[in-house]
Amino acid sequence: MSGKGRHGKAGMIPLALGVVVVLGAVLMLVTGCGKAAPAASERGTPPAAEQPPIRLDDARVARGKVIYEARCAGCHGRDGVGENPANPVAPDEQGRFPAPPLDGSAHAWHHTDEDLANFIADGSPRNPRMKAWKTDLTREQIRDVVEYIKSLWGPAELNCQGPRHMDPDCFRGH
Ligand code: HEC
Repeated sequence: MSGKGRHGKAGMIPLALGVVVVLGAVLMLVTGCGKAAPAASERGTPPAAEQPPIRLDDARVARGKVIYEARCAGCHGRDGVGENPANPVAPDEQGRFPAPPLDGSAHAWHHTDEDLANFIADGSPRNPRMKAWKTDLTREQIRDVVEYIKSLWGPAELNCQGPRHMDPDCFRGH
């Protein structure tokens, strides 16, 4: 009987040790994981929206606005709100999408300046309503319109334009 009791007591110590070791390992794992992938804010990188936006060329923006309002606003809306702000992806009778917003609310800022300029110059391969503007506008004028379009974006869109929109350390939001 007493032998059994001794065994019982002796068994408790390794068990207690085991619990401590396992708990310790779990804690190390948790804190270790936290250290391996700290949030951007913990590394001292503020969200893009809180960083000063890249500077735009004011003269280009002013020239681009004149061109935009004469040539583009009829479809893309005043201030780039899009053709159908209430439902930007509602297709027309032919199943084609309306002119998308060009402000920060849609995807225009996912493209680089170069890609936007090329798209405006060559037009949409899917929808002839977005025609090739290279016969009406010079490359410089197209670049001015791109600068104006960028003036409609917020700091996060400006700072994370193009491929950086995929980087969660740059862009965290929509
Ligand atoms: C007659 C209507 C119309 C006019 C005018 C027009 N667009 Fe468009 N635009 C569209 C449509 C429709 C699309 C969507 C094309 C598609 O689905 O591929 C589009 C797409 C675009 C896109 C791609 C947006 C994105 O998020 O991928 C850009 C940039 C653009 N237009 C710029 C311009 C500029 C700059 C002008 C003026 C010089 C202009 N558009 C004039 C109808 C128009």
